[in-house]
Amino acid sequence: MAERLKATPEILKVCKEALEQSKVIAVPTETVYGLAANALDLSAVEKIFKIKQRPFYDPLILHIDSIEKARLFCQFNSLAEQLAEFFWPGPLTLVLEKKPIVPDLVTANLDSVAIRCPQHPIFRKLLKTLPFPLAAPSANPFGYISPTSAEHVEASLGDQIDIILDGSNSSIGIESTIVDARNPEKLTILRPGPITQEILEARLKIKVCSIDSQADSTERHALRGPGLLKSHYSPKTPLELISLDSLLKLAQNEKGVGDALLFLKKPSALNSFPSTVQKNIYWLSEDGLDLNIAQNLYRQMRMIDAQAYDRILVERLPTESGLYSALTDRLKKAAYPLEL
Ligand code: TXA
Ligand code: MG
Repeated sequence: MAERLKATPEILKVCKEALEQSKVIAVPTETVYGLAANALDLSAVEKIFKIKQRPFYDPLILHIDSIEKARLFCQFNSLAEQLAEFFWPGPLTLVLEKKPIVPDLVTANLDSVAIRCPQHPIFRKLLKTLPFPLAAPSANPFGYISPTSAEHVEASLGDQIDIILDGSNSSIGIESTIVDARNPEKLTILRPGPITQEILEARLKIKVCSIDSQADSTERHALRGPGLLKSHYSPKTPLELISLDSLLKLAQNEKGVGDALLFLKKPSALNSFPSTVQKNIYWLSEDGLDLNIAQNLYRQMRMIDAQAYDRILVERLPTESGLYSALTDRLKKAAYPLEL
């Protein structure tokens, strides 16, 4: 059974030694917790796929603590240089041409590699001590909701790893933005995330494209990376997106008794709902702010999923711009029937 360990200098040494011995450990990041192993060690990387029950066609992200280290593993161009300068360390993953040193197992035989320089101070401390990059997918069983705390990792993978490095709650709460930066003339968002299209465009002063994450998966498979599936981040309880009006009606007339009703913002009329329904009412933020919704999304989904509801009915997001684009992506994938 895994131990949740706070990051003292001794514990960071223990983590380093475990990684040197081809072990897999859970690490905190500012986005979600990761399941990390030495990316250059095939037997260690294999363990990640096994523990997560992740198909080998789904490539992993390399984590490093500096652009200098990143250069050892992929081909930087002028656009990538700018992106790293502006957004690293932070929740932005670059897909670039890979160098031969990166094992094919990590990249699922693609010519490209995804690489990210995270911001979480504890994870950075650990990365600084390592002479190798860490391959780390989110620390959840394949297809399930990503973890944003050490407790989440313990609940779903605690019996398969020894060490969970505890770095408190992930401050952002959803996975990094992934961009394909191989062509310096054209930047494409492969997975929307905390660094939004608007932020990228404003900073780089270029137009940024986005692949439709709900497009047909065969099409996307051919286009990009194989891992960007339609279904992901899914609770075991069926999840549906409905309008605020419909959600309020269910809350008011007791029809929602078997369902969890999840609002974006704490409903002001809460006390006027029938008491039988009040206990089924949840919210993703006190104030409706996108950053707070992101931070609480997976926590609330996991908490509700651990109960015996028939369905989770989630308020549809008001727009798809800014951070809502990433939130919509995650919620639509959570709502899509599991496609394994
Ligand atoms: O925030 C994050 O990115 C977290 C933390 C732990 O760093 N990691 C994470 O990893 O979300 P994972 O494995 O759960 O999601 C990585 C995604 C997958 O959909 C995978 O298919 C895609 O990145 N990916 C990896 N390498 C790729 C590549 N070379 N080209 C296109 N997509 C790639
Ligand atoms: Mg994941």
